[in-house]
Amino acid sequence: MKDNVSIMLIDQNSEILDSFASLFIAEGYQVTKAMSWFEAKSFIKMKPFNIIIADVKLPDISYQEMIEKIRQENKYAFIITTAGFSDIEMAMESIQLGAHDYLSKPFDPTDTIVLIRKLVEKQCLQADNIQLFDTIKVLAMALDARDNYTHNHSQEVMEYSVAIAREMGLSVREIEIIRDAGALHDIGKIGIPDAVLLKPGRLTDAEYEQIKKHPEIGKNILEPVKCLADKIPLIYHHHERIDGAGYPVGLVGEDIPLGARILAVADSYQAMTSDRPYRKALSMQVAISELEKFKNRQFDSKIVDVFLRILKRMGNGKINQE
Ligand SMILES: [Fe+2]
Repeated sequence: MKDNVSIMLIDQNSEILDSFASLFIAEGYQVTKAMSWFEAKSFIKMKPFNIIIADVKLPDISYQEMIEKIRQENKYAFIITTAGFSDIEMAMESIQLGAHDYLSKPFDPTDTIVLIRKLVEKQCLQADNIQLFDTIKVLAMALDARDNYTHNHSQEVMEYSVAIAREMGLSVREIEIIRDAGALHDIGKIGIPDAVLLKPGRLTDAEYEQIKKHPEIGKNILEPVKCLADKIPLIYHHHERIDGAGYPVGLVGEDIPLGARILAVADSYQAMTSDRPYRKALSMQVAISELEKFKNRQFDSKIVDVFLRILKRMGNGKINQE
């Protein structure tokens, strides 16, 4: 495994780069060095690194922007920030933004190697989970594709939810969780018979009770995958209502996880604005007035306001993720 571990080092001090590099090369890791973000970004675009170690105070990028850009290009890399004593708060803040850990300067070689070994081991364990996760995402897309009416539903719910989360200023990690939960929120519908799921007419009470089981089924399917643990509450609670009249639990207000409240708004809007077996798509204006009408009953009013602001800005109701 060691030969395959690639580490990117970014620091404007060449002595620091060299001392890190010799430490890691002696451990058998592959090392790439860069003295600025400008230099680093082409390497990061070219290949996925296992670990990226970067100074919080690079001359050509803020650490906040750097973490976001690394995440966009290199989703599964572990990011470690480095900082001198006076900048240690920035390094601590970087963990909120999605870095996995930080090292304070001057470095202790033993501590550094222990940290890197631990991360490499963790990444090995995660690799299996990531493959499994990708397979589950493909299954979720297959589920959407099996029904002309819900084609692209999960993808669009994911895009709307991420746009809301970004507008609300949530952290990179929270946005990631919401993105994955958006892609998988209806995975439990795999366990609902086609005769009910694809029924063209109105559902009977008994059939509706079956549909209502999909958050629970989704939770049961995903629970064995450890790396999905932080996404499951969002998937399980995406049909809760602010007034407590939702399912599966009937949670009220802020007891419903924030991400699940975001998914609920995105999910309802996407469903209202697409054709269904039993009705045509509603216009954007009608869907918006429904969201307004159900503020504080079905939906978190703050989230509806944020979403309507985004829709207004976009004009045509389509969210561009970039
Ligand atoms: Fe659902």
